[in-house]
Amino acid sequence: MSHNRKFPSDFVWGAATSSYQIEGAAEPSQRGLCIWDEFCQQQGKIRGGDTGRVASEHVDRYVEDVQLMKQIGLKAYRFSVCWPRVLPDGVGKINATGLGFYDRLVDELLKNDIEPWLTLYHWDFPVSLHRKGGWLNPESSDWFAEYTQVVVDKLSDRVSHWFTLNEPQVFIGIAHGLGEHAPGTKLSLDDQLRMNHNVLIAHGKSAKIIRTQAKKEPLIGWAPVGVCGIPATESIEDIDAARQRTIGIGDDPIWSNTLYNDPVFFGTYPEQLESKMDKILHPNWRQDMETICQPIDFFGVNIYRGDLVRAGKDGKPDIIPPGVGTPRSDFGWEITPDVLRWGSQFLFERYQKPIVITENGMSNADWVDLSGQVQDPQRIDYIARHLRALHQAMEDGIPVHGYFHWSLLDNFEWAEGYHQRFGLIYVDFVTQERTLKSSAKYYRQVIDSCGESIWAAPNRNATKE
Ligand code: FCB
Repeated sequence: MSHNRKFPSDFVWGAATSSYQIEGAAEPSQRGLCIWDEFCQQQGKIRGGDTGRVASEHVDRYVEDVQLMKQIGLKAYRFSVCWPRVLPDGVGKINATGLGFYDRLVDELLKNDIEPWLTLYHWDFPVSLHRKGGWLNPESSDWFAEYTQVVVDKLSDRVSHWFTLNEPQVFIGIAHGLGEHAPGTKLSLDDQLRMNHNVLIAHGKSAKIIRTQAKKEPLIGWAPVGVCGIPATESIEDIDAARQRTIGIGDDPIWSNTLYNDPVFFGTYPEQLESKMDKILHPNWRQDMETICQPIDFFGVNIYRGDLVRAGKDGKPDIIPPGVGTPRSDFGWEITPDVLRWGSQFLFERYQKPIVITENGMSNADWVDLSGQVQDPQRIDYIARHLRALHQAMEDGIPVHGYFHWSLLDNFEWAEGYHQRFGLIYVDFVTQERTLKSSAKYYRQVIDSCGESIWAAPNRNATKE
């Protein structure tokens, strides 16, 4: 194995979670209500009637969880702050105990040499503000700015990596368009685009506060997700078709990358959407672009899968449907490792910002076997294949600065409840006992070897303790 097969020595090896999915501690004495608390109460919304009330009890077990991160050898941990834990009504009175939890978590991480990467919003919107119209209310960006200020005041002396928002595509499209995530509304496309405009302003105001108020020099990113094309062959035509799939608007702007990233990085909406915006937004919407387009340091990309694409007859991207028996995760998502190569390339080409893979992983039918181990060879293979593809992007000259596996722990997977296990760490949801899966031990080897071990075929025995 030659040394250029390693990742750079300062490559950030991490794992990610989000607040509602792992925290628990959801009693009114501990935090304000978020829209997921209410959504989980509605019959038929969450598989099995599950809720995030207890989840992985991370608030009570964070010390143990940080020790497990250390055992995996993580250099960084991406987590989110629950807005109504900090501000129970979304604005106004601060919950010192709630804010104190993140204060202690950050200290615990740093004490163990794990860099905190903090996401301000991963979908647990405060119910009190939802009653006032949520993200559709033009004041929502000021609410988010107030919340940002509180978190920055408390944590920016120790936290230097910040994300404003996680996956607007999902919390607008799936939550407010399809109605399958909280709050479960089915807004028209126009209203979703209006909402997105407010969300983008919220991002901009938040980024500006972090930039100007942080006590420690900040690095700011955000973590959208979007459709990604993988060229069927390496012909110029197919590569271009896959690029179009990734940076075009397609049939549904809500799932595009450009609807969100063009305003953030360029201060413009994609050309095809401008006249629509003229019709549905307030007349001076162009002036908002100054707020939206703040300097951003890195592009956090959440990527799980991509579409295989070839050049169609009219030059348009032609999506090739997955073949019979295509490998899939437990969720049913196709396993398409090359998406990390091409997704990183296409998004870097367009936005020219260093890439950090902020989520990538798979759900698997994991359980504790008779020997007390959780063997998940599929996830090991998934990690190796995806990191190989990511390494290829880097060989091709794309600056990729880090990789965060989703997820650290098994957790509450939104509408799927506890039915999808994404963790490197197995959680018994009855006893809350944690078990490192074999993939966690494998990931440790990957980190220790600075990525070099991904080139060897994963050896099951090597992942035993
Ligand atoms: C992403 C979400 C994350 C988790 C993974 C599986 O879309 O950001 O919370 O649900 O998918």
